Amino acid sequence: MKILGIETSCDETAAAVIEDGNYIHSNVVASQATLHAQYGGIVPEIASRQHMITIIPVIRQALDEASLDAHELDGVAVTHGPGLAGSLLIGVNAAKGFALSKELPFIGLNHLEGHIYAAWLEEGVNPEVLPGFPLMCLIASGGHTDLILMKGHGDYTLIARTRDDAAGEAFDKAARALGLGFPGGPEIQRVAEHSHGGEPRFPRPVVRNSLDFSFSGLKTAVARRAEEYGMYPPSEDRPPDPQQVSNMADAFQQAVVDSMVQRTIQAVEQFRVKGVILGGGVAANSHLRQEMHKRVPVEVIVPRPGLCTDNGAMMGAAGFFHFRNEIQSQWDVDVIPNLRLG
Ligand code: KG4
Ligand code: ZN
Repeated sequence: MKILGIETSCDETAAAVIEDGNYIHSNVVASQATLHAQYGGIVPEIASRQHMITIIPVIRQALDEASLDAHELDGVAVTHGPGLAGSLLIGVNAAKGFALSKELPFIGLNHLEGHIYAAWLEEGVNPEVLPGFPLMCLIASGGHTDLILMKGHGDYTLIARTRDDAAGEAFDKAARALGLGFPGGPEIQRVAEHSHGGEPRFPRPVVRNSLDFSFSGLKTAVARRAEEYGMYPPSEDRPPDPQQVSNMADAFQQAVVDSMVQRTIQAVEQFRVKGVILGGGVAANSHLRQEMHKRVPVEVIVPRPGLCTDNGAMMGAAGFFHFRNEIQSQWDVDVIPNLRLG
């Protein structure tokens, strides 16, 4: 079954053709990151307008690279939430129009479900089940840090979430305090590699009697220390010492990663799961991936970095697992910016 997956919830315009939930025929991602970088964050109106310009060429390219005609597809799956309303509207409308004109089944799906199903896209993975259910999914992105218990396909229970900032948001804000670019996650990872260590550790955020996350205190601690060291606010006369920036980035990254690994291990033990799926942009972080593999006592499945950040392939994979149960179109799908999973 070949599904066209479309994703426009944030600042990536993406489309892909996926067969049977795991084989990638094509996966086209047009990132707007450089457009937003000059503002230090995503500007929603610029994002929607750029999706409008890019969506048709991206869908065309996904079909061309798959060497397929539209009539060889079996369905269209698109993100309808959560995300930026104006951005979601472009993808949902394009997907509906495409499906209607080609007489294909159409479905709107949760973006977080897409991040989970990216795990099935890895080569060699049995599409039926990975290590076996139940699985614990940690989805860490710019807008979410959720632990989701997955008892079977389509069966989700939200176990924990962030009480304040998402992990990706913390990376982005800490990067700004350290004078690094946007998006902050890859920047922090890059400079942290040059750390000499020695920077005093940042406290690990704790939410008492809960598996919930909290990252805003950590972000503030980084900003305060950057101020103390005279790095923030940025000044042209006194540019920050790159070595000190690297050491701080490393100490921050260790704190965020440690907090996520600790919570995940607790959730694994509490719910006796057979495996862990990592997903979302922050799952591209090499330190997080290493620590999870090293410390979590069950199998950890992490898609390659390009499938952790937003893409259409994950929506095509999620679409397969819906369509294989029921081929029915949902023409009345609306965008839901705060859609939840579980
Ligand atoms: O899933 P995603 O692409 O978009 C959302 O759904 O939000 O996640 C974007 C987030 C950004 O906050 C970005 O800084 C973070 O993922 N990110 C990373 C890395 N690559 C992207 N964070 C840490 N390390 C990375 N290598
Ligand atoms: Zn995402």
